Amino acid sequence: MKAIVLAGGSGTRLWPLSRKDYPKQFLKLNGDKSLLRQTVDRLLHFLEPQDILILTCEDYKFHVKAHLNDISGYQLLCEPLARNTGPAIAYGFKYALEHWGISPDEPVLICPSDHLIEPKNVFAQTVEKATKVAQDGFLVTFGITPTRPETGYGYIKQGKVLEESPVFSAYEVARFTEKPDLNTAKKYLEEGGYYWNAGIFLFTPEVFSKELASCAPDIFALYEQDFSSLTANFADMPDISIDYALMEKSSRVAVVPLSLYWNDIGSWDALFDVLNKDSSGNAKTGRVITIDTENSMILGQKRLIATIGLEDHLVVETPDAILIVKKGEAQKVSNLVKQLKSEG
Ligand code: GDD
Ligand code: MG
Repeated sequence: MKAIVLAGGSGTRLWPLSRKDYPKQFLKLNGDKSLLRQTVDRLLHFLEPQDILILTCEDYKFHVKAHLNDISGYQLLCEPLARNTGPAIAYGFKYALEHWGISPDEPVLICPSDHLIEPKNVFAQTVEKATKVAQDGFLVTFGITPTRPETGYGYIKQGKVLEESPVFSAYEVARFTEKPDLNTAKKYLEEGGYYWNAGIFLFTPEVFSKELASCAPDIFALYEQDFSSLTANFADMPDISIDYALMEKSSRVAVVPLSLYWNDIGSWDALFDVLNKDSSGNAKTGRVITIDTENSMILGQKRLIATIGLEDHLVVETPDAILIVKKGEAQKVSNLVKQLKSEG
């Protein structure tokens, strides 16, 4: 098995800490290791560095190298342009076949670089068992039991049983719906039998190529070229995620439920949930003084932050911006970033 780590995204939901030039995967949110570094360490639990490829863009290349400076032997590849995860994965697979020596029937694990997943051994065991499902001709997704009608995830409807036991199960996917609207997400939760898509995939180049040819012929036409032509023509790729390009369309998708802790830290609210809190329920970093302050997150970098009578708020200070948001409203940060961009 090989692994491709997707580290080229430029999410802005954790503004003002996460910026286009320093996105979430490089942040040290829950300790002294960045999310990218935690992802690679998780993979090193069952793979060698030479089995791991980090796929990113030129702008982030040096950040990747800095975060992995004491690991040698891993592959680093930069896409010519950002075209989202569909074309990025096609680029990684073409490189892997031509220059990394992987065979068409070898399962490749595709991992986001900005998630928290624990414990490592359960993750490793489940992925290793899932390789058989990938070799049987499926695009394997990993499912998380949903707890709320979140609209930022893909939803997977469980289909026919492929394998079922207390230690490992796999099902065909009856339907994959990427980022449904709120009413649809609520309906899925009431109906039951759905998983959130963890954003982690496992498939062989053989199956990927076959499904790409039938589901995404525009990407396939470029993927068929050799690696240097694909590099030269990468700008012709559509801007589309693997979820819309392949998972929603293919009839060969399987889901393996993950029984572990998973958090994609998609917002400040999600981060607050995972941070250690003091006896008043506050999570604090930097120079912070509080009086009568409860259930709040106060993250400082440079300046002293003092609060009195603050409740249920999230405060994030950086050298050039301060965010103050009511707990439960942090999803709106992406609207705020859009507004900032349009105001220049
Ligand atoms: N190399 C590269 N190139 N990496 C990319 C690119 C790109 O163009 N775009 C995104 N990535 C990386 C991100 O850094 C992240 O690690 C991963 O790919 C997923 O991208 P996101 O942009 O974070 O996707 P998402 O969170 O909106 O949705 C995906 O993840 C959800 C779970 O967190 C989907 O797969 C959903 O279905 C899923 O539920
Ligand atoms: Mg994400």
